[in-house]
Amino acid sequence: MKLWMGPAGLHVEPAQGRDADAVARLHAQGFYRGWPREDFAAYITGEGTPVYVACDAKRRIAGFAMVRLVGAEAELITIAVDPRWRGKGVGAALLRAVFDDLLMTPARRMFLEVAADNAAAIRLYGKFGFVKVSERKGYYPRPDGSPATAIVMARDLG
Ligand SMILES: CC(C)(COP(=O)(O)OP(=O)(O)OC[C@H]1O[C@@H](n2cnc3c(N)ncnc32)[C@H](O)[C@@H]1OP(=O)(O)O)[C@@H](O)C(=O)NCCC(=O)NCCS
Repeated sequence: MKLWMGPAGLHVEPAQGRDADAVARLHAQGFYRGWPREDFAAYITGEGTPVYVACDAKRRIAGFAMVRLVGAEAELITIAVDPRWRGKGVGAALLRAVFDDLLMTPARRMFLEVAADNAAAIRLYGKFGFVKVSERKGYYPRPDGSPATAIVMARDLG
């Protein structure tokens, strides 16, 4: 079984169908618009959308990351860490596991989108070698109705 070490006794492993509830909850905590549990269940069990969870030995989930694989390209669809676990290296551990696992795929370049005002995520991605390649103005909806700019970042894999 695939398993990567995480901080504070946590480890990272591929998500299982039974994780869909916890993953949907974490996603809803991290983003203005949540996604239905059923969508995550389909991503977790489906092809081409690997999901990784950071969890303890009792499988209490502290964070997750989801990737979409399309040929030579991979996209980081979403990553979120439980607010109680942020700033402790969980996001970094998830990304390390993602990059390691992608070495087994044909993916050679990875993309992501991030809100221009999400300083924590942009710093995390910068630390992992992602650089800005473009901007998409008005890309994200906001609770107050004002659209927010997305930054597209990319890095080579392997
Ligand atoms: C972005 C997020 C996933 C980071 O996860 P995390 O576990 O807190 O991150 P880590 O503790 O692994 O931090 C790794 C690096 O990220 C950066 N970082 C993390 N939190 C930060 C913060 N609040 N401010 C500035 N930089 C931050 C730092 O560079 C940090 O490295 P350092 O501690 O050596 O300086 C988390 O804040 C989160 O879930 N946010 C809500 C959802 C979200 O915005 N996801 C990204 C959408 S594109």
